[in-house]
Amino acid sequence: MTNSTHGPVLTTTAGAPVSDNQNSVTAGARGPILLQDYQLIEKLAHQNRERIPERVVHAKGWGAFGTLTITSDVVRGYTNAKLFDAIGKKTDLLVRFSTVAGEQGAADAERDVRGFAMKFYTEDGNWDLVGNNTPVFFIRDPYKFPDFIRTQKRHPRSNLRSNTAMWDFWSLSPESLHQVTILMSDRGLPVAPMYMNGYGSHTYSLWNDAGERVWVKFHFKTLQGHRHLTNAEASEVVGRSRESYQEALFGAIEDGCFPKWTMFVQVMTQERAKNTWFNPFDLTKVWPHADFPLIEVGEVELNRNPDNYFAEVEQAAFSPSNIVRGISFSPDKVLQARIFAYGDAHRHRIGTHYEALPVNAPKCPVRHYHKDGAMRFFHNDTGNSDAYYEPNSYAGPVEVRRYQEPPLDLEGAAARYDHRDGNDDYRQPAALFALFDEGQRERLFSNVAAAMQGVPQSIVERQLAHFTKCDPAYGAGVAAALDRVKTAPRTSQAAE
Ligand code: NDP
Ligand code: HEM
Repeated sequence: MTNSTHGPVLTTTAGAPVSDNQNSVTAGARGPILLQDYQLIEKLAHQNRERIPERVVHAKGWGAFGTLTITSDVVRGYTNAKLFDAIGKKTDLLVRFSTVAGEQGAADAERDVRGFAMKFYTEDGNWDLVGNNTPVFFIRDPYKFPDFIRTQKRHPRSNLRSNTAMWDFWSLSPESLHQVTILMSDRGLPVAPMYMNGYGSHTYSLWNDAGERVWVKFHFKTLQGHRHLTNAEASEVVGRSRESYQEALFGAIEDGCFPKWTMFVQVMTQERAKNTWFNPFDLTKVWPHADFPLIEVGEVELNRNPDNYFAEVEQAAFSPSNIVRGISFSPDKVLQARIFAYGDAHRHRIGTHYEALPVNAPKCPVRHYHKDGAMRFFHNDTGNSDAYYEPNSYAGPVEVRRYQEPPLDLEGAAARYDHRDGNDDYRQPAALFALFDEGQRERLFSNVAAAMQGVPQSIVERQLAHFTKCDPAYGAGVAAALDRVKTAPRTSQAAE
């Protein structure tokens, strides 16, 4: 059978023209297939290898390319990072949005925190800011991250998501209250990626040529406005399409409606950090705007869809360890753990040379002495085949001291300090609750009540005590909402 369309010649992966892409080679018209049909074998074998492990968290995602344009020079006083060095300067970037808990095939419109991962292709290498759409997180000690993620994934026996596990963990971990309140509020279920803010979430640092360091938080405020779905609206959306975010983001960019965010930083001096009522390196806390005002930096625009989702979004590898001159870390314990975790995950998920894949490759020269390994497909090396170790006498690449960041003062004896000791887990969720109007509060109460279906009473009561400690109206509101749904039938989500 011949094909009616007239495209270019189909070839094997070795480049040989294919004479027939419809019929296998068989012994006789009815006969079995011959092993020599290598074209059939190549097709089947390749298909068997089409999947790579999905991300252990943030498996479902949507990505696009764009630019950061600098609109203010205030930040230049704090950092020598090249991407900030002139008003009007543009840096290419990739953003991948995601949900946290769902697998790759999960519906987009599910209540969950959204990942907001950015890769800035700067002249000094890639800067990855791997944040969320919330300014805080559920835990402040990374030792608890695998436990926390267990509660978001499936129960080992039922293979269902478990409301009980979630509230058991949260009610035993009061530092989660701030993030849980955001998750259960309107902002826990945005309509699409362009209708939410992004946050670096951690405290990072900026440093300048004078060797001065300040602590910073990064914010990206949506210019499309915040738009959310209620639980009922989301059920209706998921009933129509499980891919509502991909449709919205991909569609908007195809139509030339480019989503935008304003980038801001908050700045805290090292001296001031010793005198705040909260630990500025605690990931469950924000820095109040009144004390640490937002300083405008620039504008992010997403304006190009990937040509190949797998190559450019699935294989994208973001890592908080990717910093560039002028930007650095902080003592935030969770950030410290993440500096390790992502490269490790990428080597497992994508392979040794994940950073050489086009989407991850820096847009500046790359010269290093790493060697070989599976899928070594590139030739960067050192520019001189005799310079394959360091130090060498063959003009191989050398370190440059001016890229050295200023020393970081540390203090204290090494020990396992109780991270719950002396921390006020209620004041900031209370400040957030105070911002909510009557309608927002009612939706918060009913979202919590819906998510608590099937949870044992002892766990519910332990969590209600946290809500009440935050604000008596919060505890009472959730209790009343729970009473209202008491007679409702168990949902599959609530099943254990
Ligand atoms: P402000 O009143 O100065 O700031 C309030 C912030 O809350 C704004 O950034 C606003 O974001 C955001 N916000 C408004 N409604 C919601 C909501 N339903 N869910 C999540 N965030 C919302 O007060 P403070 O800086 O003193 O912060 C008060 C509380 O606001 C904090 O405890 C924290 O929970 C929350 N918040 C604070 C942020 C910060 O960096 N200080 C950042 C985000 C939240 P927007 O301007 O985009 O509407
Ligand atoms: C993805 C670990 C906390 C945001 C991931 C991945 C791992 C991981 C292993 C998958 C990476 C991959 O396979 O590509 C951890 C650990 C944490 C932690 C160990 C704490 C100890 C956080 C926090 C945030 C965050 C606090 C946000 C502030 C993200 C995002 C992604 C991600 C956005 C998806 C990145 C992408 O789009 O590819 N995390 N994480 N994580 N994490 Fe975390």
